[in-house]
Amino acid sequence: MSTTQTSKIEIIKAPTSKINEVDFKSLSFGSVFSDHLFECDFKNGEWQQPVIKPYAPFLLDPSSRVFHYGQAIFEGMKAYKDENNDVWLFRPDQNYSRFNTSAVRMAMPEVPEDIFLNGLNQLLQLDEAWIKKGKGNALYIRPFMIATGTGVIANPSNEYKFMIILSPVSSYYSGDVKVIIAEHYSRAANGGIGAAKAAGNYAAQFYPTNLANKEGFQQIIWTDDATHTKLEEAGTMNVFFRINDTLLTAPVSERILDGVTRKTLIDLARSEGINVEIRSVLVSELVEAFKNETLKEIFGAGTAAVVSPISGFSYQDVYHELPKIENTMALQLKTKLENIQNKLDADPFGWTVKV
Ligand code: COI
Repeated sequence: MSTTQTSKIEIIKAPTSKINEVDFKSLSFGSVFSDHLFECDFKNGEWQQPVIKPYAPFLLDPSSRVFHYGQAIFEGMKAYKDENNDVWLFRPDQNYSRFNTSAVRMAMPEVPEDIFLNGLNQLLQLDEAWIKKGKGNALYIRPFMIATGTGVIANPSNEYKFMIILSPVSSYYSGDVKVIIAEHYSRAANGGIGAAKAAGNYAAQFYPTNLANKEGFQQIIWTDDATHTKLEEAGTMNVFFRINDTLLTAPVSERILDGVTRKTLIDLARSEGINVEIRSVLVSELVEAFKNETLKEIFGAGTAAVVSPISGFSYQDVYHELPKIENTMALQLKTKLENIQNKLDADPFGWTVKV
């Protein structure tokens, strides 16, 4: 291994690359990782020397707080490679600021911009061969932070580990996505951690999602915990409903994640002349729109899922299959978004940032 020192980040290069062992044509989402990772520890009240080193397992004390009290947050981002082999990030400032919003809510230290964004840039430069060109291909970026302080006393840790790992990906969902509308379980409550990208928010969905999977549904569309009457978000993505030619999506709140793809699609749709309403959408309104045939589309939006059409929804044990239509807004917006991300179209919004 060769060791070099940049202005701040220590770089320890992997002696060999695993890249030739990877079949980039049949990637299962998030299951293969690049050669290196970025790591920075928080100790004694300050961030320590960051390091980029070979991707490998690491040891933690069994009493580390993350195992007992779940202080863990993460982000999901992607890097793209254009036809000139330049590498681009999409709205990294948004993920960076949401990461620190999550950190504050989970009583964890904020990560300085220099560590998060410079660390990511240098990691991407080192592992740039893992980013494949072409729409649909990307390097999924998973920054995360865990509590590493020891002892099972139930208070916030005083030590943390911030890491970034990279995984080459293609699509998250393949095939139809059918959803079930939540009538009993809840994802989040007012005053809770629903708006944070906290690991526990995802763990809490696994059991009800397993039940939904057994019934043939890929995802749950969560409703508000108090009344189960308002449609909120799906576990891995925000949701949009097209009624006639208007797109509807719930406003972000203490219960709903402020999705980067969600806000991007709102801007893109408006720039394409589509009417977008950001307001609570009632389950009863959705069922009614289905019955009177004004419900044209439902789709999810997220970094991993990009734009994923939803083919139907179940509510009160009745499955509502959406009629297939031509020229969907989902496809129109997905094409626009991916063209910008892959530098095939101009980026009038200034969302793409060169690495
Ligand atoms: C993302 O879209 O990046 C997410 O974090 C969702 C995750 C469950 C894959």
